[in-house]
Amino acid sequence: MQKLVIHGGSKLQGEISISGAKNAALPLLCASLLTADTFAIHNTPRLKDVTTMLALLEQIGVRILTNDAGTAELSAAGITNPTASYDMVKTMRAAILVLGPLLARTGQAHISLPGGCAIGMRPVDQHIKGLQAMGAEISIEQGYIRAQAGRLSGARIVMDLVTVTGTENLMMAATLASGTTVLENAAREPEVIDLANCLISMGAKIEGAGSDVITIEGVDRLHGCSHTVMPDRIETGTFLTAAAACGGDITLTRARADTLDVVLGKLAETGAEIDTGADWIHLHMPQRPQAVSLRTAPYPAFPTDMQAQFMALNSIADGTAVMTETIFENRFMHVQELKRLNADIQVEGNTAIVHGIPLLDGASVMATDLRASACLIIAGLVAQGETVVDRIYHLDRGYEQIEQKLAKAGAKIWRTS
Ligand code: UD1
Repeated sequence: MQKLVIHGGSKLQGEISISGAKNAALPLLCASLLTADTFAIHNTPRLKDVTTMLALLEQIGVRILTNDAGTAELSAAGITNPTASYDMVKTMRAAILVLGPLLARTGQAHISLPGGCAIGMRPVDQHIKGLQAMGAEISIEQGYIRAQAGRLSGARIVMDLVTVTGTENLMMAATLASGTTVLENAAREPEVIDLANCLISMGAKIEGAGSDVITIEGVDRLHGCSHTVMPDRIETGTFLTAAAACGGDITLTRARADTLDVVLGKLAETGAEIDTGADWIHLHMPQRPQAVSLRTAPYPAFPTDMQAQFMALNSIADGTAVMTETIFENRFMHVQELKRLNADIQVEGNTAIVHGIPLLDGASVMATDLRASACLIIAGLVAQGETVVDRIYHLDRGYEQIEQKLAKAGAKIWRTS
């Protein structure tokens, strides 16, 4: 099994180029199911989750060509098997994103029910409820969602809570429904807007993406298109947090500051000096960071996908931070690992109280999920001595070449088997 070895104490300096966003690329690839025409996605990140999604689409019957420049050309002219098996869904929950497009295009879908995962239960009831409101007949049999429909009908759907993939699934399904669908309490994440823009260039009629009410007027067919995946705001935030924790001076290129307002605001509170341009962000950290308290919530509030990284920063900050996680019920698994590096953290329910100490001590730690892995890397970069991060297969699901990018910026980090 592969591990990352980190020798802490170096500052991050120089330039890092940001990859395409995992959470935008996954739904965009699924949008290929909505048309029989060829569909091209550029700036696709080289990640395990993307490979898994391409393998799933291939099983469904999509023909795929990829190149080293990050372009995937997909043709879903012959969908032969509208199924996502348990083996696929258990390795990547985002596989649920084929449900809406498959049902809208072929009238049927068999998707394994995702189980709970390390960070929480993560049910998909809102996806199911929305599709039922659009006329689908859905039953759960032997662990599979079995969905059938004639042409879906537009409906007004009020979601009980804000769900990102739920909004994306229903928005994709509604593009081919008859009549108008209104999604209320929709997710406002930038990845939802990226998907909506792609669907619009396929001929869909969508208004309101980026607000909490999205209106979709169904059309008879969608055509192919060529779309470039937006930059990954969580990868961007991760490198910025690492540089703020290490006392670095870095410029991130191909990055979008407008998708990170709250995160940049929190980094400024730590004492970081930040400049931004249309496609770059520069961060300079002249001092030991100040502790920052935060509360995760749906976009545009502080993202749950950045909580773990900020906990690493708060572990060595000046002062005490109160960090509240409101999206996932079990997203503090990195706390036990940070404590192995000597961090001073108490957890009470969904709140962690982090008392910053001047220096962490390197140790062997275990990554428990994707963002927890990033947290442990940041902790390793600021710890004295050697930190070894085990179970980094989580990391490869969502960060493209993270150790190469960090090493290029001066970090002492490498992979071993
Ligand atoms: C997406 C992101 C993930 C991020 C999360 C929250 C992708 C591929 N993944 O995941 O990186 O951490 O948003 O920003 O985009 N819920 C229900 N019923 C449902 C759906 C969700 O109760 O039908 C709950 C979940 O358990 C969770 C909350 O709603 O507590 C938000 O989940 P959701 O936004 O759906 O997360 P994902 O879309 O799976």
